[in-house]
Amino acid sequence: MENKILLIGTTNKGKVREIAEELKELPLIMKDLSEFPDISPPEETGKSFFENALLKARYYAEKTGFLTLADDSGLEVEALGGAPGIYSSRFAGPSATDEQNYTKLLNLLKGLPREKRKARFVCVMVCYHPSGQLIWSEGVWEGLIAEEPRGNYGFGYDPVFLVKEFNYEKTAGELPLQVKNQLSHRAKALKSLKEKLRDFLKELK
Ligand code: IMP
Repeated sequence: MENKILLIGTTNKGKVREIAEELKELPLIMKDLSEFPDISPPEETGKSFFENALLKARYYAEKTGFLTLADDSGLEVEALGGAPGIYSSRFAGPSATDEQNYTKLLNLLKGLPREKRKARFVCVMVCYHPSGQLIWSEGVWEGLIAEEPRGNYGFGYDPVFLVKEFNYEKTAGELPLQVKNQLSHRAKALKSLKEKLRDFLKELK
């Protein structure tokens, strides 16, 4: 089978590396958005992770003509009815820092006992072909919100996310990247997408 081009629809170098590494056995030639500096990102107006991932994948696929992978992710906190969800990066305001976002979260949960601090990271990935054919996958990572931030690894809400696989004794911010990349919502979505992508590539005209 002839190798197909896959555009990884993100400017985040860490994500590009993680995705390229996981998909390296597939018959794909990978590109990323650094090769298309003139395409400005679309507005993320979707109402769900899926809608935002689809909107981005379709946008870049239609602009470039290439099969495109895009993702959307965030943190859902049970006691807040699933917030911040798709608003995770702007929880404390339009240009909030990671620290401002997790501090707002810690303040909202102040005094709540452990059993009411359940949370999950969610990641949805969509692969969209300009013909309109698509596949998608979802990955979930379960945890609890800590009372204080801990750890210098990672980004976003990692310092306040107590990881189930470590018996809620370590935050995601205390896990080196190689460990986080075995467990995370993004890693799970990516593994599941990889399996679907094998067949999808055979079906594409
Ligand atoms: P994006 O979809 O990767 O842009 O992520 C949206 C937002 O969700 C980020 O800005 C973070 O606030 C949060 N988020 C997503 N994935 C993670 C993660 O692995 N660790 C910590 N925060 C995350």
